[in-house]
Amino acid sequence: MSASTNFQQLTYQLEALEAHAVSQITDASDAATLDHLRVILLGKKGELPAILSQMSKLSETERPLIGQRANLLKEEINSLLKKRLLLMKTAVMNERITREKLDVTAPSIGILSGHRHPLIKTTEDIVDIFCGLGYSVEEGPEIETDYYNFTALNIPQHHPARDMQDTFYLSESSLLRTHTSPVQIRHLEKNPPPTRIIAPGRVYRRDGVDATHSPVFHQVEVLAIDEGLDFSHLRGTVMAFLKQFFGDLPVRFRASYFPFTEPSAEVDVQWRDRWLEVMGCGMVDPAVLEGLGLDPERWSGFAAGLGVERFCMVRHGIDDIRRLYTSDLRFLQQF
Ligand code: DAH
Repeated sequence: MSASTNFQQLTYQLEALEAHAVSQITDASDAATLDHLRVILLGKKGELPAILSQMSKLSETERPLIGQRANLLKEEINSLLKKRLLLMKTAVMNERITREKLDVTAPSIGILSGHRHPLIKTTEDIVDIFCGLGYSVEEGPEIETDYYNFTALNIPQHHPARDMQDTFYLSESSLLRTHTSPVQIRHLEKNPPPTRIIAPGRVYRRDGVDATHSPVFHQVEVLAIDEGLDFSHLRGTVMAFLKQFFGDLPVRFRASYFPFTEPSAEVDVQWRDRWLEVMGCGMVDPAVLEGLGLDPERWSGFAAGLGVERFCMVRHGIDDIRRLYTSDLRFLQQF
């Protein structure tokens, strides 16, 4: 039996629908168009159901043939829509990847290459060396109490040593710290020994300004408390540190006095053909340990406080401390 005209017509309509679906899907440029196409082609009132609604005109043998053909076409259209959508998403993603690409190795544009201020760099180098020796870094407040800045460091109310560090008082009992040594007390109050810390920071004194003095300057405090520490550990640590920081530079240990250390010493290095004091140090006075409730028969330790500006000046041959604060680019750009 030859195919009926109706059968041929429907076959032709399906072929036409296929051709035009393929070209429209291929041409679609966004997801909304694809959605729209799905409705027009396959939706309830779409083109494919419109063709299928004419199936009643077919004979019983023709109907399944057209039905099968229509099902295949439906699958084909669905899969084309899916592929096209995936392609669009990939294209959008690729475009975004290209647009948002960040080349971290590219040279910066419009940002001048800067560098550390010599004082910051000096502090960082000092901290690095002590960290290498097993010390950790602590901080303390710049506004201190009389107790931490003086009393707990064995400098009672009317002790003459207070005159060596006359300072700026904010009230009867609060002041700008004259040194970083109060961090020793604050640390030991909270951390039982053994301990090894350094504490970098800014300090304040009512000093006259000259080539080696400034009323605001920087120190790094060093503290090690353990069982069996003696002066040879102090000297060994200080010498190892100085050697790493300065290389081979003449160093002098000089007996000195600090109320919170016994014995005490000052360390001088050569600067512009003379000795320059760069740090104070000593064995922590048993009275300080006792004040913290630590048994001086068991615990001993050493401490040091060094002047960052002076370390910087000696290392770079800087003639005047004031150059470090004037922000003169002709000076700063040399580092
Ligand atoms: N705090 C002292 C000062 O600023 C320096 C100093 C001396 C610190 C001896 C210490 C030390 O830790 O043991 O003059």
